[in-house]
Amino acid sequence: MAPWLMPMVVLAQVVVAATLASASNTNKVYQPCADTKIQRSDGFTFGIAFSSKNSFFYNQNLSLQLSPCDKRLSLPSSNSQLALFRPKVDEISLLTINTSSFFPDSYGGYMVAFAGRKYAARSPPAFVANSTFIVTSFTLVLEFQKGRLQNLYWKRDGCAACGGKSNFVCLNKVDCAIRTSSCKGRGGSVDCSLGIQLAFSGTDKHLRVLNSWYEVENLRQYSLYGLYSNLRDSLTSQYNKFF
Ligand SMILES: *[C@@H]1O[C@H](CO)[C@@H](O)[C@H](O)[C@H]1NC(C)=O
Ligand SMILES: *[C@@H]1O[C@H](CO)[C@@H](O)[C@H](O)[C@H]1NC(C)=O
Ligand SMILES: *[C@@H]1O[C@H](CO)[C@@H](O)[C@H](O)[C@H]1NC(C)=O
Repeated sequence: MAPWLMPMVVLAQVVVAATLASASNTNKVYQPCADTKIQRSDGFTFGIAFSSKNSFFYNQNLSLQLSPCDKRLSLPSSNSQLALFRPKVDEISLLTINTSSFFPDSYGGYMVAFAGRKYAARSPPAFVANSTFIVTSFTLVLEFQKGRLQNLYWKRDGCAACGGKSNFVCLNKVDCAIRTSSCKGRGGSVDCSLGIQLAFSGTDKHLRVLNSWYEVENLRQYSLYGLYSNLRDSLTSQYNKFF
């Protein structure tokens, strides 16, 4: 275990939209830098590291991205932060990271989702924030094959969601961003906490198909945030205003 994978500093939580038939957890791996095989309804631990884009690459070579678990990156000694999550596989979940005391732009402004050691998977770095803009809404796809995590990637929705909303700016035709100056603690009034919608795809170790991905695609036409009845009002009410 990388020494920096210690209690998280970032305020983060998993919010569940709908609990499926509750089966018990069989996955005994609780730390992100280890390998495991999952079945539906298991808990699955993974991390999201925040740092500068370059710090996720070996020797800053942009063709050599390593897992944040890899000691060669020396993320612990760079300016970085870590959030750990343990959602249930194939459950529709939203991860939230409270930014009231954690400004992603102070930690390089990019994030990478990761899990595994020998079978290490990591997402490409996603832009979160700089001093001008912050992107607060993401969809992360976790792709499994026979229960083994194969791939993590950010699903982009284009800028469809920002159309006509004066608070949002479309960045590079892929991200809806809010001006950092509109955020609480930065001179504005918007709670710029991050919301990360999870989608599971592929198969579990019994070759059962994970299909929360399909459901998320179908739900996208509605405000996903509306599904999370137990989500802090501070986040939902403002998104209802926007969408
Ligand atoms: C980056 O890594 C690739 C693959 O190992 C290598 O071919 C390339 O020369 C490296 N680039 C630099 C600038 O070191
Ligand atoms: C912040 O990021 C946006 C989008 O990539 C870019 O256009 C802008 O110049 C950046 N601002 C700063 C201060 O780096
Ligand atoms: C973030 O934390 C602040 C301070 O504790 C709280 O007022 C706010 O409601 C939280 N935001 C979310 C989305 O939970």
